[in-house]
Amino acid sequence: MPFSDYRTALVTGANTGMGAEIAEMFTKRGLRVYGLARNAERLREVAGRTGMTPLAVDVTDTAALTEAVSGLEIDVLVNNAGVSATGNLRAVLHLCRLLLPGMVERDLGHVINISSIAGHYNFYGHTAYHATKAAVHQLSRQLRNDTIGRRIRVTEICPGRVETEIFGRNLGGTPEAMQRAWDTYYADFESVTTKDIADSIEFAVESPRHVNLGLMEIMPTFQVPGGLEFVQRKD
Ligand SMILES: NC(=O)c1ccc[n+]([C@@H]2O[C@H](COP(=O)([O-])OP(=O)(O)OC[C@H]3O[C@@H](n4cnc5c(N)ncnc54)[C@H](OP(=O)(O)O)[C@@H]3O)[C@@H](O)[C@H]2O)c1
Repeated sequence: MPFSDYRTALVTGANTGMGAEIAEMFTKRGLRVYGLARNAERLREVAGRTGMTPLAVDVTDTAALTEAVSGLEIDVLVNNAGVSATGNLRAVLHLCRLLLPGMVERDLGHVINISSIAGHYNFYGHTAYHATKAAVHQLSRQLRNDTIGRRIRVTEICPGRVETEIFGRNLGGTPEAMQRAWDTYYADFESVTTKDIADSIEFAVESPRHVNLGLMEIMPTFQVPGGLEFVQRKD
């Protein structure tokens, strides 16, 4: 679909990490972008740099989320905001409920859901995160069925390790935690960058209108999927 077919995008988690990069890419491609996150100051900083329209909202506050998007005609919805411990499934469902009917009516739209390799593979980690990301995967597949016959595309982006604040936030979000996360998870590794993710999304959106890129698994070359461990016990 040429970018010119789309006019608007909504990106959740748009004040840092992948979301900010995706929002910036869309503004460069000429879309009017609504960027949503909780921290208004950081949102304003990205808005000032990119021209996106900031929406300071907590996605877990369904009433505020509903009010923020009411009346908006969104062509590209990027469900990106997520927290590692509890996931963001409810907000993803609500945003689809709120914005997909308009896409169906206009016969035009693209939903991009950011899942994780945690939704596809089992390895040591946060159980709720694995479960909610698996649900985001299944939801993405289901939306294709629910919108059959309409020119609505659904792309699941399934990243491995990407250089963002996510691990530092998990460790508490303090400057020390951010540094510890950097040292532990990034310093000695070659991770995927947020630009790599935005580039992949750009490719999926720009694909011809008869092509739906359903699932893109994007991992560092040196990271492998899975995590099969075999514990030996003799007692
Ligand atoms: N980084 C990785 O290695 C990795 C790998 C696989 C999948 N992912 C997934 O990729 C997505 C983006 O992650 P990231 O690494 O870019 O994370 P990040 O750098 O920690 O950014 C998270 C973004 O989500 C926003 N956010 C968090 N909770 C929110 C809430 N309740 N309401 C509104 N906004 C909220 C944050 O802004 P505020 O705090 O200001 O609200 C921020 O903009 C997530 O779904 C994550 O699970 C990440």
